[in-house]
Amino acid sequence: MADQDLSKYFRIRMSTLHPEKVTVFDIFVQVDGRLLLYLKAGDALAGGKIQSLHKKDAGDSFYVRLEDRQLYRDWVREEMNREDLDTFSKAKILRESSVAIMEDLFENPDVNAALDTSRPIITDFVHLMEREPEAMQFLISLSGHDFYTYNHSLDVSIYSLGLGKALGFNAKDIEELGVASLFHDVGKRNVSLDILCKKGPLDEAEWEQMKRHPQYGLQILNQHPNISDAIKAACFEHHESWSGNGYPQQIKGEEIHPFARIVAITDTYDAMTTQRSYNVPLKPKDAVEMMREKLSGRYDPEMLKAMYSVLFRMKAAS
Ligand SMILES: [Fe+2]
Ligand SMILES: [Fe+2]
Repeated sequence: MADQDLSKYFRIRMSTLHPEKVTVFDIFVQVDGRLLLYLKAGDALAGGKIQSLHKKDAGDSFYVRLEDRQLYRDWVREEMNREDLDTFSKAKILRESSVAIMEDLFENPDVNAALDTSRPIITDFVHLMEREPEAMQFLISLSGHDFYTYNHSLDVSIYSLGLGKALGFNAKDIEELGVASLFHDVGKRNVSLDILCKKGPLDEAEWEQMKRHPQYGLQILNQHPNISDAIKAACFEHHESWSGNGYPQQIKGEEIHPFARIVAITDTYDAMTTQRSYNVPLKPKDAVEMMREKLSGRYDPEMLKAMYSVLFRMKAAS
């Protein structure tokens, strides 16, 4: 009998599993609100079955026990090292496996634990990028295709990793930037769900609350020791504007931490190109054009130029 306490499990996407490969953890499926053992450790799924499951898997049906999380991470990492798997499949597996972990991350009230969990994810991305440079282009092409809000942070991270690399950051800074990007909106935990999920435009009072998320984020991060100033800055300063009319401090230009200047770009780009329930997404070219023309004063011009090169090298790959 499966334990029915959902807090003892984390979600996985079936598309992260490879057909015919034996799993080393039990997989459970949720049917009519109940968890049932779906695949025993030591068994493998037939290829055709995985295909048909992909279509049904909206991201909330398949679970693995929390205590098997490391086994699952190791499993994904092993896939990343396979010689016979193409880069696109690796990029897809890594992204999908991270999305599932992301969901749990954002529900975890312990920010320190969430940061610890997120580091190996970012490291996996950085390693894949180093070993197979074309992976970045595939990762970018996989981003922005659906509207789950937890994907936003992951996609902002992926874009930021690409931008950090294009700007010549060293590996250590790129990793820190990836983590910082994942947590840039952590302050939204303190904004009411009604506001976060509202389908139409926000009224003045709602907007005031929404605009406080950088402060809330800083307060949350300050409660935990060992969180770097760079991570805090990315969170607190990502809505500042190059020309000085952003919020909350209205600092400008190089007063804004480089990580925050990067997130300002990748965050806006992701918001513009992602399908949300109430807007029509812009095409990548149109989004960047708009950022370069109508919104140009908001961003570090050198970084915006680099973002252009990151994105439009992607076209050739996708
Ligand atoms: Fe934000
Ligand atoms: Fe954001």
